[in-house]
Amino acid sequence: MRLLVTGGAGFIGSTFVRRRLSTNDDEIVVLDKLTYAGSRANLADLEADPTLSRRLRFVEGDIADPEIVNDLVSSSDAVINFAAESHVDRSIIDSSAFLRTGVLGLHTILEAARAAEGDGDGARSIRVVQVSTDEVYGPVITGDSREEDRLDPRSPYSAAKAAGELLVKAYGATYGLDVVITRGANTYGPRQHPEKFIPLFITNAIDDQPLPLYGDGQQRRDWLHVDDHADAVGFLLDHGETGGVYNVCRQEERTNREVAERVLGELSKPWSLVRTVPDRPAHDRRYAIDPSRLHALGWSAQVPFEQGLRDTVRWYSDNPAWWRALRDGAWDRYYEHQYGWRLAQSVEA
Ligand code: NAD
Ligand code: DAU
Repeated sequence: MRLLVTGGAGFIGSTFVRRRLSTNDDEIVVLDKLTYAGSRANLADLEADPTLSRRLRFVEGDIADPEIVNDLVSSSDAVINFAAESHVDRSIIDSSAFLRTGVLGLHTILEAARAAEGDGDGARSIRVVQVSTDEVYGPVITGDSREEDRLDPRSPYSAAKAAGELLVKAYGATYGLDVVITRGANTYGPRQHPEKFIPLFITNAIDDQPLPLYGDGQQRRDWLHVDDHADAVGFLLDHGETGGVYNVCRQEERTNREVAERVLGELSKPWSLVRTVPDRPAHDRRYAIDPSRLHALGWSAQVPFEQGLRDTVRWYSDNPAWWRALRDGAWDRYYEHQYGWRLAQSVEA
């Protein structure tokens, strides 16, 4: 297949490209705006590979730009959309880019697919896979969210993701587009931007810097290794039903405190580095999703959390140049804004 992978220079998108290129014969075009979160370095090993690079092309650009998107979509068999602003804390600071990419950018992709399909006689079909998130359900205190549950997003990030999903569904219903939506759980692994919880705690601990734990640290997340997330998206690209919505997780629920303890344990660093800081506004207490629908299709996640976390800690320890480059420049301003006052008010955890 000819795949257009939007946001393919980010954490999960680049993992998808890496795994897909080595297991399939697909030709892949990556379209990525290279925001602060995207990096060409995430694809460097593939671009340097004489065999794989023949089936990979990188285009720098915005999914909200029809001039770029229309041609790329019309020459593809499928679009897998990873492109998004992805950090909840940044969406609380300023949500404009979240809406622009998550709604208007996605709209541009959907319109391009509609135009490429022409009069809808079925002669030409372009599958659009929208990579969404379990956060669209909002917090669940007990039990697991199922795909038909109502959406209850509570951060500007998850509201933008939910809005994007509704648009995708509408294009499926109205124009008969071949759409699939994936709702992945909290993902971790190599090449995740150090603004996110696990890589932030790993990289701060390596540097003996305080680890800012929001609130009581009893929030629960269901951790999914990035290889599993990427493989599930590929599996659903190939096997998902048109119009299907699929939860993706491994049911590896942990409190944030437990995760912090494990990170410190792997690095042999003391608990005293962890500081309780004022909480994230509207912090969702727990996400948990039911993966039965995906299991019934024949796919389940493989990487156990303990193993995946150990490997992830090792990857960050072995690749300081990768993450130090991202903790440079604009990072200090963001960090000061997000954590300066929190750490000033922090107490022992
Ligand atoms: P990321 O922030 O690492 O990567 C996002 C990529 O999108 C970056 O390369 C960025 O440059 C690119 N991008 C942003 N705006 C763009 C635009 N307008 N045009 C083109 N490219 C643009 O994010 P991630 O963690 O890899 O997440 C990928 C997708 O998976 C997102 O849609 C996110 O909502 C979803 N998701 C993430 C997780 C998680 O835990 N990380 C879990 C479930 C779902
Ligand atoms: O659930 C899927 C979502 O997971 C994805 O859709 C998002 O793109 C991804 O960023 C992630 O969202 P979270 O808000 O759950 O992830 P984050 O890494 O920001 O935080 C994980 C937990 O750790 C959460 O309960 C908040 C807490 N936390 C986070 C940071 C950054 C802290 O306690 N301290 C921190 O400094």
